[in-house]
Amino acid sequence: MKLDLELLCGAGGAEVRGLDLSKPLAPETLTALRRALADHCVLLFRDQKLEPDSQKAFARQFGPLAETPFIKPLEGHPEMMRVVREPDEKKKLNFGGRWHSDLTFQVEPVLGTVLYSRESPAVGGDTLWTNQMLAFDALSPGMQRMLESLTVMHSAKRSYGPQGTYADDDLKGMRINASELALKETPHPCVRTHPENGRKILFINWVYAIRFQDMTEEESTPLLEFLNRHSQRPEFQIRFRWTKGALAFWDNRSTQHLAVNDYAGYRRVMDRVTIAGDKPFFTPA
Ligand SMILES: [Fe+2]
Repeated sequence: MKLDLELLCGAGGAEVRGLDLSKPLAPETLTALRRALADHCVLLFRDQKLEPDSQKAFARQFGPLAETPFIKPLEGHPEMMRVVREPDEKKKLNFGGRWHSDLTFQVEPVLGTVLYSRESPAVGGDTLWTNQMLAFDALSPGMQRMLESLTVMHSAKRSYGPQGTYADDDLKGMRINASELALKETPHPCVRTHPENGRKILFINWVYAIRFQDMTEEESTPLLEFLNRHSQRPEFQIRFRWTKGALAFWDNRSTQHLAVNDYAGYRRVMDRVTIAGDKPFFTPA
């Protein structure tokens, strides 16, 4: 099965044409999409007509859906989050506006995220991703070997803890419940193996990767900052301009992402579901 694909950026991203995602896809199409997702990190589809039920049905073809803690879901759809920003919200903070991978503070972080545009700004509000396989490949052999031996503690505390970024913020369109549950830390390998293509992934992000195991945050921060800055090099980035009805399906195992905060005055409404993932592992080559 050959997909009609247009590659978007050197680092990845592929626009897939000719598919109606509101209908069930053939098994061979799903196999090809799974392969393309692992290889290109992000799959983009334009001009789709989806409702919450059909978006969930599309995502379920790739695995069971996961629920998102700390954020109130869309009414009647516990697996779906509606990301809304109103035109009069001029806050510095933008939901998803810092580099991260979704839900890496969980023991089994999500495999992928399916984000659908119900309403997009005329200009601005792009999503950026980084390809963390390329970010790993570009490190020196010495740094790669050292990172392969390290474990990173992930936690939601900086976002959803009692002192977290979102604790006092009333992002108008979002309903966030900051909680002490966010203080829990979960260990993950600093370098994980992609379960489908076997590539090595630099598995850290600004928001949830807090420190190295058995080290303090202060000791860990210089190296984590370097790795995060390194990950954001332009040649590792993928960028997508949204239009109403566009859908992005990204591989959350091998990417970080960020929503650009440059669309004050416009309304933006996105529906998000996530697909359950597995426990990150590292297999030496
Ligand atoms: Fe996100």
